[in-house]
Amino acid sequence: MSNFGYTSGILGIGGVLPEKVLTNFDLEEIVDTSNEWIVQRTGIHSRRILEKDQPAYLLGVEAAKIALNEAGIDAKDIDLIITTTETPDYLSPSTSCLIQKEIGADKASAFDLNAACSGFVYGLTVASQFIATGYYKYILVVACEGLSKVTDWEDRKTCILFSDGAGAAVVGPEQEGYGILQTNIGAVGSLGHNITIPCCYISQEDIENRPNKNKRVVWMNGSEVLKFAVRAMESSTRTILDNAGLTVDDISLIIPHQANIRIIDNALKRLGIPESKAVINLDKYGNNSSASIPIALYEAKKGNKLNKDDYVVLVGFGGGLTYGSVLLKWR
Ligand code: UT7
Repeated sequence: MSNFGYTSGILGIGGVLPEKVLTNFDLEEIVDTSNEWIVQRTGIHSRRILEKDQPAYLLGVEAAKIALNEAGIDAKDIDLIITTTETPDYLSPSTSCLIQKEIGADKASAFDLNAACSGFVYGLTVASQFIATGYYKYILVVACEGLSKVTDWEDRKTCILFSDGAGAAVVGPEQEGYGILQTNIGAVGSLGHNITIPCCYISQEDIENRPNKNKRVVWMNGSEVLKFAVRAMESSTRTILDNAGLTVDDISLIIPHQANIRIIDNALKRLGIPESKAVINLDKYGNNSSASIPIALYEAKKGNKLNKDDYVVLVGFGGGLTYGSVLLKWR
């Protein structure tokens, strides 16, 4: 894919995490696991999760407000809200509509987009197309997740990984040559059975897969997803670089989905990118699905890691199975 028409870019970015910290030592009290195993196999030390009675969408509201403030854009000027989530508080109203109401983006249309952990790169891709055609000018992409709500706290294979959080970006017109230069998104539905979160229906196979037959929780075949993730992150990154006529040496910063340090390290190794160019925060926050990339981007911005003219790659993978990447030139 290449962009056409009006150029778009990220005008403001925000990230928010719940206050509650759940450490590996806390998890040792809940399931048969150890801090050592979790650190060695995932790189995660602690994660942030919502309180039981706290909805996820309010994190999205806070992240959206930060992004709007940074962009200097009034919520009333937003044309469209796209919330990427695989854990909406409600199926209806959508999380986008809940956020629209809270921030007062009265003129915005609003819908949710589910591409699991790849959601934010999918969301940026969709937003850039609306702007390229001139259909909309300002779009709020909010990645808002509450994985702790669908976690099986008796399944040690998954409960050590997932967490909650939200990130948001205001996407709008950008000077030519800057902003979103390339995007690549894809899906391999034939592998979708490897991560499932049932909602209104569940197959017999998926009931049997769950240790507790607890229907509304996440289940995952971790090693299959891990293999897919490394390959997908490498090939999606190579695709956007090739399409832009760039090489890995041109990249100043890579912001991968924060799922597992082994996945990130393997993908970086295959690409020939040193870890020093990657933003990694999974040790503190765990895997908060589509929110992980915008939160890491927000932290990179706050930490002055983004400079004018930098080429930045965002790359993710997740349930579906899906994958995707975005190439930015920072201004
Ligand atoms: O955002 C996208 C979502 N998904 C992912 O990113 C997940 C990708 N996959 C992974 O991150 C890894 O596959 C996991 C971290 C989930 C698991 O690591 P692994 O190296 O693939 O381990 P495994 O599933 O092959 O399990 C190895 C052993 C098993 O024991 P046996 O059968 O060899 O005796 C597991 O039962 O480790 C055991 N195990 C644990 N032991 C202690 C699994 N989970 C735990 C645990 N604590 N929490």
